[in-house]
Amino acid sequence: MCALDVRPAVATERLILRGPVAADVAPIAELANDLGVAGMTTHLPYPYRQADAEAFVGSVARMNPRTETVFAVEHRQFGFIGMLGIHEREPRRPELGYWFGRPFWGRGYATEAVTAALRWAKGDWRRNVVWAGHFADNPASGQVLCKAGFLYTGDVEPRVSAGRGGSPAPTRMMVWLA
Ligand SMILES: CC(C)(COP(=O)(O)OP(=O)(O)OC[C@H]1O[C@@H](n2cnc3c(N)ncnc32)[C@H](O)[C@@H]1OP(=O)(O)O)[C@@H](O)C(=O)NCCC(=O)NCCS
Repeated sequence: MCALDVRPAVATERLILRGPVAADVAPIAELANDLGVAGMTTHLPYPYRQADAEAFVGSVARMNPRTETVFAVEHRQFGFIGMLGIHEREPRRPELGYWFGRPFWGRGYATEAVTAALRWAKGDWRRNVVWAGHFADNPASGQVLCKAGFLYTGDVEPRVSAGRGGSPAPTRMMVWLA
């Protein structure tokens, strides 16, 4: 069995959250190569190239599933639409991140995917707290997190966006309790 086969799959009405596969490389490279996407994340470079997507999908297979989970978000009709990950880089501090391709914004997909991932994190991964942060100039992401049940902690951390480069951007921290 290959490592990807054991990654969990989570289903919602419109979406399937599953481990990324080689076939996702092309749509990841296409949809992430957008400053409006990459510049709202900490980790996506811009421009975002095919090689970045290949390296990313390869790296997911090497992640420790006890501390990190990455889901490709697949729409039942349109196929791959975005990515979502929860990374526990510090003990008991799993942090959520996500991005969706621009053609798929504004239809509730991020909220649906985040809500499903939290259900999975509570039930299967047995986490009772999940953190997230969004750049202060990204209120849409704040709205997604609010709708999924996150609350603002009041903390604002400086974080660098690989896609934007330059100085750290104020990042509004949020927390979700199971
Ligand atoms: C932010 C992002 C995830 C939203 O995805 P989406 O599928 O459009 O999100 P949803 O449709 O579930 O919800 C978006 C909400 O934000 C609201 N919104 C959109 N633009 C907004 C703005 N400028 N100010 C405030 N709210 C805004 C929408 O009205 C909607 O809320 P509503 O349902 O209450 O009306 C998507 O735009 C994206 O991937 N952006 C680039 C990467 C990114 O920002 N990742 C998150 C990093 S923290």
